[in-house]
Amino acid sequence: TLPRGFAGHVVRWQQSHGRSQLPWQSTRDPYRVWLSEIMLQQTQVATVLDYYPRFLARFPDVAALAAAGEDDVLALWSGLGYYSRARNLHRCAREVMQAHGGAFPRSAQALQALPGIGRSTAAAIAAFCFGERAAILDGNVKRVLARVLGFDGDLASAAAERELWQHAEALLPRSGLQEAMPRYTQGLMDLGATVCTARSPACERCPVQRLCAASAQGDPQRYPVKTRK
Ligand code: ADE
Repeated sequence: TLPRGFAGHVVRWQQSHGRSQLPWQSTRDPYRVWLSEIMLQQTQVATVLDYYPRFLARFPDVAALAAAGEDDVLALWSGLGYYSRARNLHRCAREVMQAHGGAFPRSAQALQALPGIGRSTAAAIAAFCFGERAAILDGNVKRVLARVLGFDGDLASAAAERELWQHAEALLPRSGLQEAMPRYTQGLMDLGATVCTARSPACERCPVQRLCAASAQGDPQRYPVKTRK
């Protein structure tokens, strides 16, 4: 049985205690949000804060990025690592120009068909930019949800991961307010980054502690269960 009121608590906490000053939070431009999400996949926020404005100064929109040579894109990516991200970024920009007339598609399903955009990244872009009711499930969010639910499936298994995706969808806000999905999505990310951390969860600062199975069991760090693959 799902914790009642979960989404509302996350939304209200995001508003009062979540992060609000990150440069990609002041825009609904899918190009800018997409770029931030790709950079943040495997790179710390502090590092992205350094690279993100320089990248945007050189490539202010998807047309500019698509028109560049791959070497120029890789040069601006230099230091961020995981260079397949930069190659996919470039390929994605070209596909948005050629197959979508220069406008990012507005649904998570269509975004996920683009190079380098997986299910969770597609959902994040659609939620932030278009308010779509789409679930994210990155590494931090897997930890938050596994703890709240007391989900002890082994996330090294595809079946358990599928099950957690279903829970992530069932927990989405029911509110139709335009702000609910961006707030909720950012709130889950912020909870995972600042409260429900891997090593030392700060349950006393958590807005959903009273709903949390792992906290009730007194051992939040037992979750998520993940054996080596
Ligand atoms: N990590 C991934 N997406 C993020 C976002 N929108 N804000 C902060 N950290 C993130």
